[in-house]
Amino acid sequence: MKRVMLVVGALLLGAGAVVAQQDVVKEAQTLMKGNGKNAGALGAMVKGDKPYEQATVDAALGQLDDTARKLPSLFPESTKGMKPEGDFSASPKIWEDKAGFEARIVSFAKAVTEAKAKAKDVDSLKVSLGAIGKECGGCHETFRLKI
Ligand code: HEC
Repeated sequence: MKRVMLVVGALLLGAGAVVAQQDVVKEAQTLMKGNGKNAGALGAMVKGDKPYEQATVDAALGQLDDTARKLPSLFPESTKGMKPEGDFSASPKIWEDKAGFEARIVSFAKAVTEAKAKAKDVDSLKVSLGAIGKECGGCHETFRLKI
């Protein structure tokens, strides 16, 4: 009986770990969706669809900064091969080329930090958003897969 309990306990613990890993996968996706939304909000101002608003710029760059800080822990080894619901997943290259992925995070974080210092009007935002966009695309090209 004790043995059965131990086995059940181990199974439950295992199930808990899977749930936790799915949470991490989900968190990564949620943050990336936030990236998309905020890049879109900045893009609307650059295109002139929306008036320039410093508070919106600061909030959007703040979220991107938050994502940049979290990115190093968003794709732990334990989530390798797991896919979120939706159109995109992490490429196995994230774990195969850890140094390359980390370098991408560093340069993304740098572009966001520079934008926070420089984006003060439509013209400066345009330059900053261009630099950030290159980082989004640069990472996705290698490290994101279309499901
Ligand atoms: C260091 C790498 C990296 C950077 C930088 C990065 N992304 Fe991603 N992004 C990923 C990976 C990996 C995925 C797929 C896995 C996931 O969604 O968690 C992804 C997924 C996405 C998705 C799809 C989410 C969905 O609906 O499933 C969007 C949208 C997105 N990123 C937007 C952006 C934008 C906008 C930026 C720049 C502001 C950005 N990302 C910067 C790695 C990155």
